[in-house]
Amino acid sequence: MESELSRPYAIHSATECERLERQAILARLPDHLSFLSVPPHARILDAGCGSGSMARLLASAHPTARIVGVDVRHDYVAFAHERAVLDGLTNVEFQQGDIFHLPFPDASFDIVWSKYVLQWVKEPHLAIAEFRRVSKAGAFVVCANFDGFAVTHWPEDPVLQPVLDRVFRGLVDPFVGRKMAPMFKAAGLVDIKVDFEPDRLFTILGAIDPDRKRNWVEQLAAARSYIAQILGGEAKADHFVGDLLGYLDRADTCSYTALYFVRGRAP
Ligand SMILES: C[S@@+](CC[C@H](N)C(=O)[O-])C[C@H]1O[C@@H](n2cnc3c(N)ncnc32)[C@H](O)[C@@H]1O
Repeated sequence: MESELSRPYAIHSATECERLERQAILARLPDHLSFLSVPPHARILDAGCGSGSMARLLASAHPTARIVGVDVRHDYVAFAHERAVLDGLTNVEFQQGDIFHLPFPDASFDIVWSKYVLQWVKEPHLAIAEFRRVSKAGAFVVCANFDGFAVTHWPEDPVLQPVLDRVFRGLVDPFVGRKMAPMFKAAGLVDIKVDFEPDRLFTILGAIDPDRKRNWVEQLAAARSYIAQILGGEAKADHFVGDLLGYLDRADTCSYTALYFVRGRAP
């Protein structure tokens, strides 16, 4: 189910695709379309598509385009396919596959999009090289990812902060956003552009709102056994989750996460 080059998807649960759908709404996904210039009849890959929200959005926004969503988990691919059928979309399909061994020949796509995936993989530069391989000459690779995720807060809580660092560095790469552009360059992509904005899911000024809190609660619950492994016991994990949610509820704090959009063109 998981690639040997990916970290465990610690937030997996039976309801993860529904959570990803709600998360896409909170993230205001349609705004991301401004980072993609889609020519008529484009072939677009959504690599690590999860519930398929972006692939479906692209399909409805660009009716002449053909979109393929790929995810390593077959249950997510099945969910994405069902939603596309319900939406009556005929220009999008979903396939199970590993972003390190994409099931497509060289030079297949005009755009490769990938959001919130590279933090879950052990060798992101190899994934970017694979995105370049399946890109036609002149095609764009666009990766969106966070930077400072879950570990950048002010004022810092001196007791919680080192535990946050330990837990989130154990689960994902919280700083993958800033690392993407150099990896694009190393993969031979050209005309590289970097934009960033506040990540709307994890940038929180003052007490957290109920929708963002639910998003946190669900992910922390799914990741409980992984957090317990990192901290050395379930009681410690539960204590940590309580402390983190308590911190996010404080009126006097700000949690900062940037969302990087890195674009590069295949030569
Ligand atoms: C946080 S979700 C993001 C899903 C979607 N891109 C979004 O923005 O909602 C990360 C996704 O990456 C997928 N993934 C992780 N490693 C992968 C790999 N090696 N190949 C394909 N998909 C992978 C996971 O299964 C999961 O669906």
